[in-house]
Amino acid sequence: MSADYVPLQGYETLSVEDMKARAEKVYATLLKRRTIRDFSDKAVPRDIIETCIKAAGTAPSGANHQPWHFVAISDPDTKRKIRIAAEAEEAEFYGGKAPDEWLDALAPLGTDASKPFLETAPWLVAVFAQRKGGEKTGQSKKNYYITESVGLATGMFITALHSAGLGTLTHTPAPMGFLRDICERPKDEKPFVLMVVGYPADTAQVPKHALIKKSLDEISTFKT
Ligand SMILES: Cc1cc2nc3c(=O)[nH]c(=O)nc-3n(C[C@H](O)[C@H](O)[C@H](O)COP(=O)(O)O)c2cc1C
Repeated sequence: MSADYVPLQGYETLSVEDMKARAEKVYATLLKRRTIRDFSDKAVPRDIIETCIKAAGTAPSGANHQPWHFVAISDPDTKRKIRIAAEAEEAEFYGGKAPDEWLDALAPLGTDASKPFLETAPWLVAVFAQRKGGEKTGQSKKNYYITESVGLATGMFITALHSAGLGTLTHTPAPMGFLRDICERPKDEKPFVLMVVGYPADTAQVPKHALIKKSLDEISTFKT
């Protein structure tokens, strides 16, 4: 290989039994994740959010350009600004802009334009996708597979938050351009999702609809 390589470090060889047990444990943990829309206002220490962002930052990415940026917000004024802007967009969305098919798909979730959790939850984390960047900060090379990379990082972020005992909502008020302005991010960054993070409220409920997950047979094909 012409590139500069070093020996793999940190790889742990497990017995097949241990592998099975670990895979089952991860599955059992992820089975319990549910999107939360009723949050407690109980504070969550900043360092937990920082560690979960670092976990997200380990994700694979096109050419290792790591085309993501996470803006973590606990400041009440900024959260209020985000709520006002998001509710304005969502009022238009639910008030006629969204096609009927989309509204029908959302009906089982019971969501509407009201987003009180944007102020109640202790943390909002806006995830941005960077059109330009590079393996080092400050570069302005073309990024590759941006959506795939940021999607993977966001999935790992949710997994880390859930594993740390936190509830999340993946929120995508459409359109999300206001997030770039409020978070003061550059024009070549695109808002990807707004993660709402905190403890579920004691009274939190989830839609039955979210419990229906496709079976292994439905989501996979094995050719052996
Ligand atoms: C890309 C994406 C965007 C989403 N946007 C919203 C949203 O704007 N508002 C909302 O209430 N839920 C949103 N959700 C949450 C989904 O409704 C939820 O994941 C789905 O109903 C399954 O429920 P579960 O996460 O509990 O398994 C979004 C999820 C994803 C992956």
